[in-house]
Amino acid sequence: MSAAASSDQPSRPKNVFVHPTAEVADDASLGAGTAIWNWTKVRENAVIGRNANIGQHVYVDANVRIGDDCKIQNGVNLFDGLTVGDRVFIGPAVTFTNDLHPRATGDWEITPTNVHDGASIGANATIVCGVTLGAGCMIGAGSVVTKDVPPNTLVVGNPARPIATIDERGNRTEAA
Ligand SMILES: CC(C)(COP(=O)(O)OP(=O)(O)OC[C@H]1O[C@@H](n2cnc3c(N)ncnc32)[C@H](O)[C@@H]1OP(=O)(O)O)[C@@H](O)C(=O)NCCC(=O)NCCS
Repeated sequence: MSAAASSDQPSRPKNVFVHPTAEVADDASLGAGTAIWNWTKVRENAVIGRNANIGQHVYVDANVRIGDDCKIQNGVNLFDGLTVGDRVFIGPAVTFTNDLHPRATGDWEITPTNVHDGASIGANATIVCGVTLGAGCMIGAGSVVTKDVPPNTLVVGNPARPIATIDERGNRTEAA
């Protein structure tokens, strides 16, 4: 057996980059052109599409699905039950959740969350589970999202409320 064939590294598309300090489960799937940066963890059965950039200290929990061309900044937490579409931006320190009534004892009760194509989430936002973030929407920095966000809508605050509709560049088209 050649050195390459006996390596304990799982086979991945050639142009995938995994930083030596990152930890990616053998059965996680990484698409071509994707980069996983320092100290990031990608758990079992997670799926990350093509040309995704996953920053430092990101936690991608088991079964999370992330589409193509996504940009995920440092310190983001993505938990089981989350599905992220294509071309989604997730700012630094954004936290998703997956259990509405967590307790230290007993099993997790996972409520799924969906983020649709082209959505952008500002730094330090918290997304309470069970919501859908519509295509092309934008979440202001530090917002706490507790309800669905319609497509192409800008929301801010705690709880996050719509303040405008926006185009695909994030420019306002109308006050909400
Ligand atoms: C939400 C955001 C897109 C709005 O930008 P904007 O369209 O230029 O809006 P304005 O700055 O004119 O603000 C409009 C109003 O919303 C308020 N506002 C803006 N951002 C807010 C936020 N994150 N949370 C709460 N209120 C906010 C402003 O105070 C202002 O209120 P007022 O009308 O009472 O004065 C922007 O503030 C934001 O949070 N961007 C995300 C930045 C980020 O996290 N980037 C990550 C990569 S570094």
